[in-house]
Amino acid sequence: MTDAGLRIGGLTLPSRLLIAPMAGITDYPFRAIARRYGAGLTYCEFVAADGIVRENKAVLDRLKIRPDERPIGIQIFGAEPEVLSRSARWLIERFAPDILDINYGCPVPKVARKGAGVAALKDLGLMRELTTAVVEAAGDTTVTVKMRMGWSESTIVVPEAGPILESCGVKAITLHGRTSRDRYKHPARWEFIRRLKEAVSIPVIGNGDVFDERDALRMLDETGCDGVMVARAVQGNPWLIRRLVAALNGEPRPADPHPVERIDVCLEHLELEIIEMGERVGLDRMRKQFAWYLKRSSATRPIVHDLVRVNDVTEARALLLDHRHKLQDKAA
Ligand SMILES: Cc1cc2nc3c(=O)[nH]c(=O)nc-3n(C[C@H](O)[C@H](O)[C@H](O)COP(=O)(O)O)c2cc1C
Repeated sequence: MTDAGLRIGGLTLPSRLLIAPMAGITDYPFRAIARRYGAGLTYCEFVAADGIVRENKAVLDRLKIRPDERPIGIQIFGAEPEVLSRSARWLIERFAPDILDINYGCPVPKVARKGAGVAALKDLGLMRELTTAVVEAAGDTTVTVKMRMGWSESTIVVPEAGPILESCGVKAITLHGRTSRDRYKHPARWEFIRRLKEAVSIPVIGNGDVFDERDALRMLDETGCDGVMVARAVQGNPWLIRRLVAALNGEPRPADPHPVERIDVCLEHLELEIIEMGERVGLDRMRKQFAWYLKRSSATRPIVHDLVRVNDVTEARALLLDHRHKLQDKAA
């Protein structure tokens, strides 16, 4: 099998491996590293349509996009067609994203209570209106959707929603094979990715519970999906992106990183966060990242406990560099 890239509307992604939007995670530093390791597409952290139209500072701060970040997706959520439409126009004018993605999957009460995110799947008439509003406002910009299967087990709507979304002009659908109620409790149900694929002719991207190459290839095989999207498994693990892309290309498995490389990329991520967010916020955002980067190797795991508790950036750098030197001395 070869990875010929993935065509979505007029856009060709360099790889069929997409990195999921993740609130609090997929900021510029995360995306820059993910792209370098072969991600076919990365997304900003999702933004509220009403926050955009009100030009809310906290919302706009999440949209720091560098000119060289291509292709890039911006994901929006909202419950009012008019507001979604205005926010779509605003985002396109300001950032010209390659993809504008509508979120019909977020189960977080703050989002779903207002009828946005996964709650839009409770009313397919409203979902159609919201989608049409964005597609019309987007003009030539490619609009996609990321969704769950439905609100609950008894209201799984994806086989019905897929053709509606396609008829609205959506150019690809990513399906996370769970309902709102599932959270992460049960395994993702890939059979619904296959059912969606059978129901539409636009590309379908499968998402949910891909943790390694075997999962990615099995998802392609079992569902016939056109691309694979990964979220949790690539946190602190850009090397998995490289491995997944190689697997999708039918290429041999790249070597695991040396522990020194883990520390180097973790340090790079820290420095990029500081540039983006300043020392205090940057360090706070990095605490969970430290654990994700370093817990995966027995050689780097011993510093995690102290690293996540450091008081400032100087302490974090010193701990990382000191351990790096020890590992280098050992290797010499
Ligand atoms: C920390 C975190 C934040 C997330 N934020 C978003 C988001 O903003 N938009 C979205 O569509 N999905 C979001 N998701 C869901 C993921 O994109 C993905 O659909 C889900 O985690 C299943 O994929 P996985 O099994 O590869 O983790 C988030 C997931 C996590 C773990």
